[in-house]
Amino acid sequence: MSGSRTESSEADPAFQRLLRDVERDLGFRTSSYNDAYLRRRVEARMRRRGVEGYEAYGRLLDDEADEREALLDALSVNVTSFFRNPEVWAVVREVLREVDGRVRIWSAASSDGREAYSMAMLAFLDPAIDERRVDIVGTDIDRGILRRAREGRYRRSGTDDPVEQLTAVDGATEYVTVTDDAVVVDDRVRDLVTFRRHDLTDGEPAGEFDLVVCRNLFIYIEERAKARMVSTLLAGLAPGGHLVVGLTETLPPDCRDAFEAVDRRRRVYRQRG
Ligand SMILES: C[S@@+](CC[C@H](N)C(=O)[O-])C[C@H]1O[C@@H](n2cnc3c(N)ncnc32)[C@H](O)[C@@H]1O
Repeated sequence: MSGSRTESSEADPAFQRLLRDVERDLGFRTSSYNDAYLRRRVEARMRRRGVEGYEAYGRLLDDEADEREALLDALSVNVTSFFRNPEVWAVVREVLREVDGRVRIWSAASSDGREAYSMAMLAFLDPAIDERRVDIVGTDIDRGILRRAREGRYRRSGTDDPVEQLTAVDGATEYVTVTDDAVVVDDRVRDLVTFRRHDLTDGEPAGEFDLVVCRNLFIYIEERAKARMVSTLLAGLAPGGHLVVGLTETLPPDCRDAFEAVDRRRRVYRQRG
């Protein structure tokens, strides 16, 4: 286990052991995530299964493949939407307009793909961006969510209505087919995006990009792992490339010199040349 755990969990050896076993046996790098987040997720599973104590829950994980699967699922928070935080998209649009030649974009921690597809739609919608020059790579650690991303089909519900999300940007609904219960992204939009598995704790970037968008993952990540992830993202930027993080997220102090703020409030940064 990394020495990065906070004191509260170091004072809780049973929880530490459980995290170590999850990391070793399930391949989920618990040491990169913050304790409060891991506790909430693990304890939600324990309540669901009526289990008292981390040791008992560890035994359940040993015995039941379904519970291992359910825990892995619970550890990935996949909440996302089309054009999430609409105010950020006006700046993203400006950034995309400025790129000469091919426009290479990485949606890191892309969840079910709506962020990557939103960028593809912007390329079609904005006459100053030539969609034929745009390549988008969406990556996530969660194989199940990547399968859904590739399908590009999103169920409509009262709390998560993709149609409503798309109305944040004029004309975006032209790029989907809407049925009573779902929204399906058009092939022309899907064709701009490739999805693949990538773990941001692994160190290697997914390629070289003009724009890297990594939003709403760092909120769950422990500080040192976050610094490593930002280094990975930085390594994936072409000179002068842009990075966008989540509206409530900040860059770790060690990485700040590598970037200048383009729009601090909307968390848009440019790599210093
Ligand atoms: C809350 S979603 C964010 C989706 C999208 N970026 C957004 O802002 O709407 C966080 C995503 O990070 C993914 N994730 C968690 N740990 C990861 C890691 N180590 N590497 C890559 N993706 C990870 C999760 O599977 C999840 O889909």
